[in-house]
Amino acid sequence: MKNITVIGSGTMGNGIAHLFAQNGFAVALVDINPTSLEKALKTIANNLDRQITKGTLTEDSKTQTLGNITTFTDLQKGVANADLVVEAATENIDLKLQIFKQLDEFAPKNAILASNTSSISITKIASATARPTQVVGMHFFNPVPVMKLVEIISGYATDKAVSQKIFELSTQLGKVPVVVNDYPGFVSNRILMPMLNEAFYALFEGVAGVEEIDTVMKLGMAHPMGPLQLADFVGLDVCLNILRVLHEGLGNPKYAPCPLLVNMVEAGHLGAKTGKGFYEYVPNSKATLVAERFR
Ligand code: 3HC
Repeated sequence: MKNITVIGSGTMGNGIAHLFAQNGFAVALVDINPTSLEKALKTIANNLDRQITKGTLTEDSKTQTLGNITTFTDLQKGVANADLVVEAATENIDLKLQIFKQLDEFAPKNAILASNTSSISITKIASATARPTQVVGMHFFNPVPVMKLVEIISGYATDKAVSQKIFELSTQLGKVPVVVNDYPGFVSNRILMPMLNEAFYALFEGVAGVEEIDTVMKLGMAHPMGPLQLADFVGLDVCLNILRVLHEGLGNPKYAPCPLLVNMVEAGHLGAKTGKGFYEYVPNSKATLVAERFR
């Protein structure tokens, strides 16, 4: 595989493009929004600068990495030479079905079509195409250049050889791949989201405050971020969507999203990206403060 197309240039899309480009692949980054593409290239350049400051990357490699990325606003042109497409668009099932229909129409017939979805069924996504055996989940973790795991999801119809190819490719990218089957939340979010939901309930029921809950998990369980900070980092709307997929898909009331989370999302307090969640965020700063209503 040489030519990789990444669909969507948001947080996950730009991280995935960064990773492939830094490993020498030709990357076509596609987004209907040209402003989002410009922002993505700036983010990638800033993250490469971090690596230069750390002494893990040279200026030349930065130039090469950025030179490996071409941007497109036209999906048909962006996928024309793809060996692999990794879709990282918004987590909306109708949008993904529509994108996969187009990918199937415009990508070369032998191309593998992967989705970075965090919870939408790969089997369902594959059903929008005439090549379900070549559709697979390739689930990265934020920040993509840093997090080691790639969760590979085999849909009901995915060919074993296709999962194996993605496994080998992930290893080539310096990641540790794990293959799982296609059930709601896969493994990562089936386990992560109920843990985060329990932290929301602990706060909601007044068991402890934001800082206490996060400190318990950071220092007691050696998690790099506490569950409430992590939820803000992932996006509270994303957490709510995934919990709803688990609740509906598994039919068990234990996955019901905490009413506090529902209220926060309805109020538009979505975490770091909106500047407010369980914490408040100062732009361009690492500083976080417990949000006023939880103090
Ligand atoms: N791009 C590239 N490098 C980055 C980066 C980015 N966006 N963000 C951080 N880094 C690098 C830094 O350069 C640094 O590198 P070093 O280890 O070589 O020094 C390293 O990551 C640590 O960064 P910082 O010192 O700035 O910050 P922290 O030490 O606070 O670490 C963190 C930041 C890596 C985000 C850490 O807090 C962490 O691991 N948090 C948990 C992240 C997590 O759980 N992610 C998964 C979320 S779930 C998900 O994505 C799935 C979805 O389906 C919901």
